[in-house]
Amino acid sequence: MNDFVVKGDLAWSKSKSELQSLKDGYLVIENGKIVGVFDKLDEKYRSFELLDYSGKLIIPGFYDLHTHAPQNHFKGLFMDYQLLDWLNNYTFPEESHFKSEEFYSKAYDDFTSEIAKSATVGVVAFATIHREATLYLMKALEKSGVLSYVGKVNMDRNSPDYYIETTEESIKETERWLEDCKKLDLKLSKPIITPRFIPSVTDHLARELGRFAKEGGYPVQSHLSENMSEIGWVQELCPESSSYADAYKNRGLWGETKTIMAHCVWSRIKEDDLLRNPNLYVAHCPDSNTNLYSGIAPSKYYLDSGINIGLGSDVAGGSSLSLFRAITDAVKASKLRYRMFDQDDGILSFPEAFYIATEGGGSFFGNAGSFKKGFDASFVVLEEENALIVPRLTISERVERYAYMSPEKSVRHKMVKGKLLY
Ligand code: GUN
Ligand code: FE
Repeated sequence: MNDFVVKGDLAWSKSKSELQSLKDGYLVIENGKIVGVFDKLDEKYRSFELLDYSGKLIIPGFYDLHTHAPQNHFKGLFMDYQLLDWLNNYTFPEESHFKSEEFYSKAYDDFTSEIAKSATVGVVAFATIHREATLYLMKALEKSGVLSYVGKVNMDRNSPDYYIETTEESIKETERWLEDCKKLDLKLSKPIITPRFIPSVTDHLARELGRFAKEGGYPVQSHLSENMSEIGWVQELCPESSSYADAYKNRGLWGETKTIMAHCVWSRIKEDDLLRNPNLYVAHCPDSNTNLYSGIAPSKYYLDSGINIGLGSDVAGGSSLSLFRAITDAVKASKLRYRMFDQDDGILSFPEAFYIATEGGGSFFGNAGSFKKGFDASFVVLEEENALIVPRLTISERVERYAYMSPEKSVRHKMVKGKLLY
């Protein structure tokens, strides 16, 4: 049965900058979609199964628009390096282990189990260059019940001998992987075309990947303007392009289908016009941008400009898969940006960061991330710390307090697209 009445203290975004809540409210779900939120239950819903979470906080669940599943096992390590040294010295050696089934099965089972326990209901992840391992990850995520897009990574240049493909291999393996995905016909885990970033893909490979995306209708994910040295390198590699974003565009990898660009720390300077594209999504990754001291992305500016923006945990540049952490990190980073050098934009408020984590990222998955009518029936139920102050707080204050105080805690119950996972 896919029809439920969910009772509890409900919170979701009313607008980009405001939370809405209802104490002892009823969330009605029919055929996997939200019917609405009500303060009294109509007779006609009395036959629906009641999930009584009275007194508990219930929110729509989060969408992580950017993470690296094969980096989960080393999160919290090697944090004193900038991007390019961190990739060469730590990340590429670790990702190369995913050719071994013994290694990838354990690492991806752990990743999947952490995501399943978290408040994340949808995740967009890089895998590695290895086809078999990528398929394993997709099957594991499918089984967990969360929604996902997973990419077999493409890398045919500027990569170490032990972790690189030839151009031909990269194209063939990607075609084979897409065929395998069709045969598997997974319902919740979908493929996403994944050139690692401009420095790791030759022009020919980039164009072939753009063609696969366009012809097959597959979404695309990559990295954009994260770090100053990276941007300089792209300029050298693509002298014909007016910006890093323009280099993707020239290779057919810009918004032909839904496209996520992670970071966009420095994109305001000369490529923000290209980001104003309904198919383009910025994945804002504040923890990673701080750890790798890449900079502070102008998240408030992107949100106010109508650019699509979601949050990314970007593990292992980020040290946590928790989107509660990403929310509070986004708020803190924007305050530092405001104080240090950019008073014009204002700060990203808690309700704005909550919106980005739910509806902002959710829109990549369709009508998702809210309790509005017709949206995917996904939610998580939170267990608050016992505290004397709770009875005096509004529901919105309780959500904010939970985000700052309990970011890594497992959630109590989770529903994804009308299916109660636990
Ligand atoms: N740019 C290219 N690869 C990566 C990666 O694995 N992590 C981050 N943060 N940036 C990248
Ligand atoms: Fe990344």
